[in-house]
Amino acid sequence: MHKDIKQVLFSEEEIYKRVVELGEQITRDYAGQELVVVSLLKGAVYFTAELTKHIDLPVRLDFLISSSYGNTTTSAGSINVTKDIDENIAGKHVLLVDDIIDTGLTLEKITNLLETRKPLSIKTAVLLDKGSRRVNEMDADYVGFEIPDEFVVGYGLDFAGDYRNLPIIGILRPSVFAKK
Ligand code: PRP
Repeated sequence: MHKDIKQVLFSEEEIYKRVVELGEQITRDYAGQELVVVSLLKGAVYFTAELTKHIDLPVRLDFLISSSYGNTTTSAGSINVTKDIDENIAGKHVLLVDDIIDTGLTLEKITNLLETRKPLSIKTAVLLDKGSRRVNEMDADYVGFEIPDEFVVGYGLDFAGDYRNLPIIGILRPSVFAKK
């Protein structure tokens, strides 16, 4: 185990198995239809890559990068899109994919933004759901795992830009926070 990880929450095998299940569920739910998958970088990179391989439908893949500025609850409501999608999603089924839903502000803001472009539908898929932190009514349509209010890293999730490439999802040691 990585020296900065206190506890592994989900192993590579557990993550893979759950992501395959989600892909199969999405395949059934959208049977006979096409899907535009919009991945929220950077965190969703590994989840998106694995998930889309297991969606057995015509899929177009696009990426969006956003950042929330400020740490307060009020300013975090403002989302700055630094890289927008290229696809025209008007009249298309859109699946918005993220690594984690925490406060819910990111998914709420991006869903609202994409709604203005008149897609046929928008659903959301997240690997992790930290439900205890929610500040709004957002819920993802597809959830890999519910997690406790701990700082988790790996499989795309970072701490100050580090640990994204860990193949597992684990809880970071508190001593790591103290150093930064
Ligand atoms: C993280 C994560 C989600 C968002 C969830 O993104 O990837 O997009 O926070 O938090 P919320 O539900 O409280 O809005 P971050 O802004 O850290 O960027 P990253 O994807 O590049 O890590």
